[in-house]
Amino acid sequence: MAKDQEPLLAEERPSSERSSERHVEEEDALLTGQQKPQQRKYGWPFWREVGLFTWALITTVLVIVLGVMYQHQQTSHPSKSGEWGKNWKPSGKRNMIFMVSDGMGPTSLSLTRSFRQTESGLPIDDVLVLDQHLIGSSRTRSSSSLITDSAAGATAFSCGMKSYNGAISVLPDHSPCGTVLEAAKKAGYMTGLVVTTRITDATPACFAAHVNLREEEDRIAEQMVGEYPLGRVVDLMLGGGRCHFLPNTTERSCRADDTDVIKMARGKGFSYVSDRTGFDGLNLGSGVKLPLLGLFASTDIPYEVDRGQVNDVFPSLDEMARTALKALSEATKDNDKGFFLMIEGSRIDHAGHGNDPVAQVHEVLAYDKAFASVLDFLDKDEVDGVLVGTSDHETGGLATARQLHKNYPIYRWYPEVLLNATHSAENLAAQLAHHIRFHTQLSKSAVSTYIRAILLEQGLGVYDATDAEVDAIMDTSDGALPAVYVFADIISRRAQVGWSTHGHSAVDVNIYASKAKHARPLIGNHENTEIGDFIREYLDVDLEGVTDELKEKGALLANDWMGKPVEDVNILAELDHYAGDFKKRGLEDCGCGLKH
Ligand SMILES: *[C@@H]1O[C@H](CO)[C@@H](O)[C@H](O)[C@H]1NC(C)=O
Ligand SMILES: *[C@@H]1O[C@H](CO)[C@@H](O)[C@H](O)[C@H]1NC(C)=O
Ligand SMILES: [Zn+2]
Ligand SMILES: [Zn+2]
Repeated sequence: MAKDQEPLLAEERPSSERSSERHVEEEDALLTGQQKPQQRKYGWPFWREVGLFTWALITTVLVIVLGVMYQHQQTSHPSKSGEWGKNWKPSGKRNMIFMVSDGMGPTSLSLTRSFRQTESGLPIDDVLVLDQHLIGSSRTRSSSSLITDSAAGATAFSCGMKSYNGAISVLPDHSPCGTVLEAAKKAGYMTGLVVTTRITDATPACFAAHVNLREEEDRIAEQMVGEYPLGRVVDLMLGGGRCHFLPNTTERSCRADDTDVIKMARGKGFSYVSDRTGFDGLNLGSGVKLPLLGLFASTDIPYEVDRGQVNDVFPSLDEMARTALKALSEATKDNDKGFFLMIEGSRIDHAGHGNDPVAQVHEVLAYDKAFASVLDFLDKDEVDGVLVGTSDHETGGLATARQLHKNYPIYRWYPEVLLNATHSAENLAAQLAHHIRFHTQLSKSAVSTYIRAILLEQGLGVYDATDAEVDAIMDTSDGALPAVYVFADIISRRAQVGWSTHGHSAVDVNIYASKAKHARPLIGNHENTEIGDFIREYLDVDLEGVTDELKEKGALLANDWMGKPVEDVNILAELDHYAGDFKKRGLEDCGCGLKH
């Protein structure tokens, strides 16, 4: 053994000129566990006595030191046990952070990992933080389709039950199902939601609202601030979607009515911040007054790749996540119960809908960073806690491969193509629309010069666009692809990244956890409802009680408090059958990325 390790030891050890021979022997003894024979001046019995005495002394000192350290540990971490016993969950106070990477499939990880390695010159085995916490996979179908939407996906997490696409924590029979967040609040936990899209969008809505169709975001906004049967259940909300909270009498409103949901929220005790200055005033969560409503964008917070350039306007997912963790842990400091926080990387999904690999890699990196911050929080926090993360579904049918020609493809995709892009396709299309609106007299050739020089070269890092591609961007005729899709296609083809849909797909998605042993029931392949079951069991809360309360108190309200029911109830619990859909062509019914 010593022989094999000699060169290693020689390197690690100070050079022999500076270290005494004695020092070297001690190191060898430590490393090999074997004492070198030494010359003896005194007899064996003498040394045995000395040895025994020293041993006794050392062990006594060790016992005392360890005892003091243990006591210190106990006083500074009053409830943290670290080992959670055979029940896999802590017996005392506990926190739970549930992270959702909306629309992130397994290929999103391969894409982003290779992008990062290329960008930073990292070795082949360099992986994302997420990669180091993979524990299983989730099967995602809903009651009405093999391909779920975010509403049915999040209902599986919040209620632990399958429902139909579009359902916001209601079941196929249109009855509300109690959610883990509502039950956590009832049990004494504090609760929070952090997203980068509208706080009224399907994923966050499913934790604190009940409506029959996800499109009812005005109604969802009211419910989330507490205007519904259970009263206020969310202590902290950070994200976008301000327009659904403003009355239709104000300019930036997207509500159909004149209800002022901000005023309603204030009436229920919320403090409200609406911009970067307000966010900075939260001091990353120190001394924050809860309940808190923070809406930092009219609709979505910009994609991370674009947000970096307007960092003084919009906070990042990571900043919002750290703020929420700090605020909730301070607020529960003296409580018996901890907190439940849901953090969503909402727009990985949007990048998938847009088939935009540039937007996607930066969204996944931003999510990975927030994931790392949560791990760091759990490491340092005094209370036991777990982080579980998963996706509701994959979006885009993403492939890190693309056959561009008829001939058998070469096995390549080129992450380096994505490196020079500084904007999302969404941002470039918006710049184009803005440019045309403000320069109405421009000739066609002036527009095409602008597209080439500013949008394609500076924005996308593409210097070899063809005239046909530039024309496709400018083509606004019926049936033409919208510019946002053309930009995304231009960069995807060059990187040889493939997409099979502008919608979702049915592939299983990954499950992550802070430690596998802290989320033992989720190791392996699971139905998405089991993630909801896990949250409920970890928090040890009663969903049935909440469901009963929702039904009882809901019955006293107008019977459409959850919005209009879906008329054809058969579609809610059964799969569609084949009906020759392949024959329907064209873009007559282009949702163009609006249906998530
Ligand atoms: C605003 O909402 C009120 C009802 O609350 C409605 O009567 C009115 O038509 C709405 N106005 C607009 C411009 O939508
Ligand atoms: C990225 O841009 C640099 C210069 O701005 C250029 O040299 C390089 O070829 C570009 N890379 C790709 C893949 O287009
Ligand atoms: Zn989704
Ligand atoms: Zn989606």
